[in-house]
Amino acid sequence: MEGSFSCVFKRALLFLSLHVLMTFFMHKGYNYGVEGKITSHTLSVSSLLPSPSCLPSSAKASNRKSTLKLVHKHGLWSPFDRDHNPLNLSEILLRDQSRVKWIQSQSSNSSSGQKATAAASLPVKSDITVGDYIVTIGLGTPKKDLTLLFDTGSSVTWTQCKPCVGSCYTQSDPIFNPSQSSSYANISCASTFCSLAGSGCFGSTCKYSITYADNSSSVGFFATEKLTISPTEVIDNFEFGCGENNSGIFGTAAGLIGLSDNNISFVEQTAAKYGKYFSYCLPSSSSSTGYLTFGKEGRAPSSVSFTPLSKVQQDSEFYGISIVGISVNGIPLSIPSTVFSSAGAIIDSGTTITQLPPTVYSALRTVFRKAMANYTTAPADSTVDTCYDFSKERTVTVPSITFLFAGGVNIDLDRSGILVMVTASQVCLAFTANDADSDLIIYGNVQQRTFEVVYDVAGRKLGFAPNSCS
Ligand SMILES: *[C@@H]1O[C@H](CO)[C@@H](O)[C@H](O)[C@H]1NC(C)=O
Ligand SMILES: *[C@@H]1O[C@H](CO)[C@@H](O)[C@H](O)[C@H]1NC(C)=O
Ligand SMILES: *[C@@H]1O[C@H](CO)[C@@H](O)[C@H](O)[C@H]1NC(C)=O
Ligand SMILES: *[C@@H]1O[C@H](CO)[C@@H](O)[C@H](O)[C@H]1NC(C)=O
Ligand SMILES: *[C@@H]1O[C@H](CO)[C@@H](O)[C@H](O)[C@H]1NC(C)=O
Ligand SMILES: *[C@@H]1O[C@H](CO)[C@@H](O)[C@H](O)[C@H]1NC(C)=O
Ligand SMILES: *[C@@H]1O[C@H](CO)[C@@H](O)[C@H](O)[C@H]1NC(C)=O
Repeated sequence: MEGSFSCVFKRALLFLSLHVLMTFFMHKGYNYGVEGKITSHTLSVSSLLPSPSCLPSSAKASNRKSTLKLVHKHGLWSPFDRDHNPLNLSEILLRDQSRVKWIQSQSSNSSSGQKATAAASLPVKSDITVGDYIVTIGLGTPKKDLTLLFDTGSSVTWTQCKPCVGSCYTQSDPIFNPSQSSSYANISCASTFCSLAGSGCFGSTCKYSITYADNSSSVGFFATEKLTISPTEVIDNFEFGCGENNSGIFGTAAGLIGLSDNNISFVEQTAAKYGKYFSYCLPSSSSSTGYLTFGKEGRAPSSVSFTPLSKVQQDSEFYGISIVGISVNGIPLSIPSTVFSSAGAIIDSGTTITQLPPTVYSALRTVFRKAMANYTTAPADSTVDTCYDFSKERTVTVPSITFLFAGGVNIDLDRSGILVMVTASQVCLAFTANDADSDLIIYGNVQQRTFEVVYDVAGRKLGFAPNSCS
């Protein structure tokens, strides 16, 4: 049983390496206040260790045809080599900042300077740094499995391609070779897609060049291929970037799947098949699995609460939402609602921790610190400044945090969405402050954990269904 052996082995590794992003498993359940409202979460500190069962969660989406297993790129279920790719929260948070800065620079209200422009002789599309979660899809005929980062903030789907004319970084799957696929075709420079993508020509082929916020890049040609999600779910003539010169911090992922609200993204390309409808569940910890699913079919809509989707700006490819308040232990923070509305907000799969207006963050931090006053504090780490040393505690009680979205949607964060662990002796409140109140609020992926997040892009609404990963 090679699988179970390597599972035990990986658990032992996790056991030994406490500098792992881990989240808490609930020990005693919720504490109920006088009105029966959820007031706090009591957690077992021993649950800092990996979950007792090494089996992947049986995703609730398994009754749906178009479902991909989703894992954290540094997690137990990642196909990547964790020894060369260890999870370091400090680094993740630092990298998060280049993504956040880029997102803010795209917004006209940015406090950090004017809107970024691509200045180069070749058409260069600048884009954000890539996300934390990966899925595996099949490409070509015969199909080759490729593990790709998935990102709701990017539009272009691409993978590294042979021959690597410039350079290719090391990836865990064999690099895709177009000459060995019977369904591969280059996209003509005269195609609609090429003009939508704003790309340039190289001879008659459509060239693309993407530079990400952290200076990672992918340059190559647009092509069409057969994309396989499952044996019964195949997308013909999917338009993607075949990258022949790639470098940067993509871990060992083969590339990226772009799910932004944009006319060349996966969502738009598969609109006829999936109705611009997708959802995902990000697992509670890096040792469990979630899913990414396309289309409405087979889902139970009753459990989902929907809030309107908007655009923060006309040409924005981000998913705009409207946050109207935050409560701690059921008590709303006393801040004017205009602080939320004047900043505007987006939801993003690739930003790790939620970025709040300084006024909101400081109110949240004050109330949180008061509720946690009996615990030993620990030093700040990069962008998180409210940290505790739980190494001597057996259980801890953490206040509940609830987000109120437009449309009366109340989202009580999962316990895994409140704290992030740097080490056992440094566990931190998983929020940070923007530079200015006018900067965009970014609802990050830690806060989305364990909810099925439903993007009904055609219906212009975003849904949350609690406890959905397993
Ligand atoms: C994590 O990354 C930070 C910043 O790069 C570094 O200072 C620290 O030593 C790393 N921690 C571990 C445990 O590797
Ligand atoms: C590949 O890209 C790097 C920088 O991104 C550039 O310096 C180099 O010239 C490129 N190589 C080719 C063959 O295009
Ligand atoms: C696609 O275009 C590139 C660049 O022009 C070329 O090197 C490659 O041979 C083409 N592939 C096919 C299958 O036409
Ligand atoms: C990316 O490169 C530019 C120009 O070389 C530099 O100014 C910028 O600081 C770099 N950004 C990062 C995140 O390394
Ligand atoms: C496609 O998106 C780009 C960038 O957002 C935009 O400039 C262009 O007008 C869009 N084209 C169509 C046909 O919607
Ligand atoms: C920009 O900020 C102003 C004032 O804070 C606000 O009224 C406006 O709605 C903001 N615009 C966007 C696009 O967020
Ligand atoms: C802290 O501990 C004291 C003494 O056990 C207790 O009375 C108090 O309620 C605790 N405070 C909080 C915020 O839990």
